[in-house]
Amino acid sequence: MLFTPTPIGFVRSDYQQTAEVPKGFGARHDAEGVLEVKPEFEPGLTDIDGFSHLFVIWMFDRSQGFELLGTPPTDTRPHGVFATRSPKRPNPIGLTVVELVRRDGCRLHVRGVDMLDDTPILDIKPYLSSVPADTLRRGWLAEAEKGQY
Ligand SMILES: C[S@@+](CC[C@H](N)C(=O)[O-])C[C@H]1O[C@@H](n2cnc3c(N)ncnc32)[C@H](O)[C@@H]1O
Repeated sequence: MLFTPTPIGFVRSDYQQTAEVPKGFGARHDAEGVLEVKPEFEPGLTDIDGFSHLFVIWMFDRSQGFELLGTPPTDTRPHGVFATRSPKRPNPIGLTVVELVRRDGCRLHVRGVDMLDDTPILDIKPYLSSVPADTLRRGWLAEAEKGQY
């Protein structure tokens, strides 16, 4: 059985258009924004304050259709959608790691947003990575970066 997702809240961001979000090599994602959680879900934020970083799961609500192969801004070669972070996906789900700056009731002030203003938030989870840095492989991106720097 599949479920019908209900937004638990919306992103408040300075980005109104996709072109405004930094892309490509060297793009910095330090923009501040607010995750505005609906009041009925506020009890679910209990104890979130102790986490420095959060996973935000959200919906690419202004993306249409999908492309199984696409050329990302960081390369000249096409790659499979599941090997990229393309907004054009069969299920339009975005995942962003943000830094929690502070909580103000049901408003989480965060740094690192790459979402447009009013983006629906599907879920929030504490960011916990147990993958040692020396076992991470960055696939085609590492190759593309070599050519860049
Ligand atoms: C490359 S995607 C990566 C998003 C996320 N970090 C991920 O990995 O799923 C980021 C781009 O998504 C686009 N975007 C942001 N919010 C969107 C929305 N609500 N609907 C459609 N596209 C959006 C912006 O153009 C932004 O540059």
